[in-house]
Formats: sequence, structure tokens, C-alpha cells
Amino acid sequence: YSLVWLEEVSSTQDWLKEKSINCVVVARRQTKGRGRYGRSWQSDEGGLYFSFPLTETFKDEQTLPLAIALSVCQMLEDYGFLASIKWVNDVYIGGKKICGILVEKTKDRTLIGIGLNVNQKRFTESLQATSLLLVSGREYHLADVLLKLLDRIDKNLDLLKERGFQVLREEVKKRLLFLGEEVVLYTDPPTVGILADLSPEGYLVLMTAQGEKKVVSGDITLRG
Ligand code: BTN
Repeated sequence: YSLVWLEEVSSTQDWLKEKSINCVVVARRQTKGRGRYGRSWQSDEGGLYFSFPLTETFKDEQTLPLAIALSVCQMLEDYGFLASIKWVNDVYIGGKKICGILVEKTKDRTLIGIGLNVNQKRFTESLQATSLLLVSGREYHLADVLLKLLDRIDKNLDLLKERGFQVLREEVKKRLLFLGEEVVLYTDPPTVGILADLSPEGYLVLMTAQGEKKVVSGDITLRG
């Protein structure tokens, strides 16, 4: 893939949708950064915001964000950080969100959008977010971080394509936040259960009062 680096864009996801070019598009700032469920994504200068398309399809789609989240964790480990995967799309460091992943399907492509907090000094308080700078006290070179992350993603997606989720599952489980703990899943009404396992298809296995429940997607938090 070629790399397109923009100063400012509404959203790298929307840019890819409009252009239908197959490239990695990065922006220093986004004026309308988007998160999952129509939420907005604070995209001030200092963060890494990028998107890229996938033209092939994957068997169990919910494994895709997990493979990406794993890549983010592994890249961060290479920098000396300890990061965890909050099922199914987020990466956390020390109880705060460091990275969000957006997977959107168009008619012929899957667009992957990644927002990683790197050099930001502050966030809106309600966000419970952190950055690599806030965790470590030093700044990082955005292009270095990007290239290392793309390399990890490339390797993991190859593994996913060739050998299925099986090989990545153990690595994801090792880094899975709240495993064995009581969590709330934001269904309507909310579901409470013990996060028992990650299924071979990447589903969340919850042990609830009504028995075992497999969940395909959603948002969880620790029951507090
Ligand atoms: C989430 O946690 O809800 C997902 C956040 C995804 C943010 C990234 S930043 C690059 C790309 N462009 C967007 O507008 N969103 C994604």
C-alpha cells in the first residue's frame, strides 16, 4: 500500500470511502473523527489517526478487530508498554483507553480505522483516555509508530488468512482485559456475567445467571 499523509481531514474513514483508493491514509488532525456507535473521536494533533481498506473477506468477522487490537498490543510491547485488549475493539493501558478500532463494511471493501493516542497532553476529562506521552513522559515519532504497527498488522492478518483465528486466539486471551471477572455488557437491558472465555470464533463467552451466553459484539465494562 502507498501512504497518504494529510494535515487535516474530516475523517480518514470518510476520505477512503469517497476516494475508493487502496492506500493507507493518515491525518495529523480530524475535524469529524468517528468512533463506534456514532460516537465522536477526539482527534487533536499528537495522535495517530489512520485508515486502510481490505479487499478480501475474512471468515469470522469479529476476529478482525481482535487481530488488529493484538497487533497494537504487540507493537506497544516492542516499545516497552504493557497493553490489554478490551473486547472487542479497544486497547487499554493502566485502566485507560489508548486506542480505538473501527471496522466498517462498504459494498466491496472493509475499512479499518485506527486511532492511537500517542503525544496528546490532555483529553476531555469524561473520556478516561490516556496517551503514550502521558504514560511514559516522552514523545514518540508518529511515522515510526505507524510503520511498526502496520508491520504487525500485516503479519497478523496473514496468519488470520492462512491459518484462521486459532493461532491468534491464545495471544489475544493472554492480553484480554477482565478475563475471569464480572462484567456488564451494554445490551438493553444490560447483561451481567463472568467473562469466562474467548470462543474459537472470537465471541465473548459470558457466564450469566441464565447460563452461558455467546456475544458477537458490544461494549463491556467491569461491574463496579
Ligand atoms: C472507537 O473506539 O469507537 C473507534 C475509534 C476509531 C477512531 C479512528 S481515528 C482514524 C479513523 N477515522 C475515524 O474517523 N475514526 C477512525
